[in-house]
Amino acid sequence: MLQALQRRLNIPMPRRIFHDEGRSLAIDQLSPSHVWITQWDTSPSDPIIQFVKKHCQATTIVLCQKLTGKPSVTRIIGPDTPILIQEHGIVYELRFAHVQHPGLFLDHEPLRAWLTQRSYASVLNTFCYTASLSLACLKGGSKQVTSIDLSQATINWATRNMELNTFAGQHTLLAEDVFAWMPRAIKQKKLFDCVILDPPSFSRSKKKIFSVHKDLLELHTYAWKLLAPHGTLISSINTSNMDIAHYAACIQESFQLSKRPGGYLIIKTIDLPVTHPTRTLSDRYLKGFVCLTHP
Ligand SMILES: C[S@@+](CC[C@H](N)C(=O)[O-])C[C@H]1O[C@@H](n2cnc3c(N)ncnc32)[C@H](O)[C@@H]1O
Repeated sequence: MLQALQRRLNIPMPRRIFHDEGRSLAIDQLSPSHVWITQWDTSPSDPIIQFVKKHCQATTIVLCQKLTGKPSVTRIIGPDTPILIQEHGIVYELRFAHVQHPGLFLDHEPLRAWLTQRSYASVLNTFCYTASLSLACLKGGSKQVTSIDLSQATINWATRNMELNTFAGQHTLLAEDVFAWMPRAIKQKKLFDCVILDPPSFSRSKKKIFSVHKDLLELHTYAWKLLAPHGTLISSINTSNMDIAHYAACIQESFQLSKRPGGYLIIKTIDLPVTHPTRTLSDRYLKGFVCLTHP
């Protein structure tokens, strides 16, 4: 309904409009007047900005350069005031100043859309960032949503997003290390009807240096232990250099390690939006599974 209305009003949903095969440049149209450019190489950025100025009619253009092993460098052209956008009936605050990302991962739009059509009694959303997946669950009618992120600043932003929306379900936002919180919750015998894992490729906390390649097994083993009978595990990674077959095998192995009885069915795979430029390229970096357990 909202999508139809947006089409009529000619307000596009935020979406990625360019992403090259070598993953050196991505351009996100966040609103009719806001464009976020991510550059992963050192090629001159002025021609890119000039091109976006000419073709995208944006009043605010942000260029964020991300080079391996170096802190991101962000350049803002135009007003840097936060904006509110709407997607699937959910309001999000996007930010431009003092951030390395505007606050909404456009590539997870299909998963958010799917979650707005489901209702769980309880949800655990780990690595929640600005809580967009939690908001999608609440929009769908989920009753109790617990969201965890390492960064207090991110949790504050997630709190702001929660305040911008009125949903009946209850939510709890925690600034915690997932690798400390999950074992504690297992000892306390907590169970959730849905557990969401959407980790970054790499992160460093006091407790752990996490990498998808090294720690996926441990993370998923915790998740299976926290899942109620007939529970749903949603797992997604944003990693080009992990083969989908290896990822699926890792989930299978973690299920066995968890010593959980029964089994699980993969009821859905997670993929990029149909409008996403890289769907036609070889770099299908975002991937994932929705697994439904059975006793
Ligand atoms: C890729 S983002 C998650 C995106 C989010 N699922 C969404 O759809 O918007 C990764 C997040 O994980 C958080 N993070 C990294 N390591 C963590 C840890 N050990 N415990 C909790 N959160 C962590 C980061 O602060 C960051 O916000």
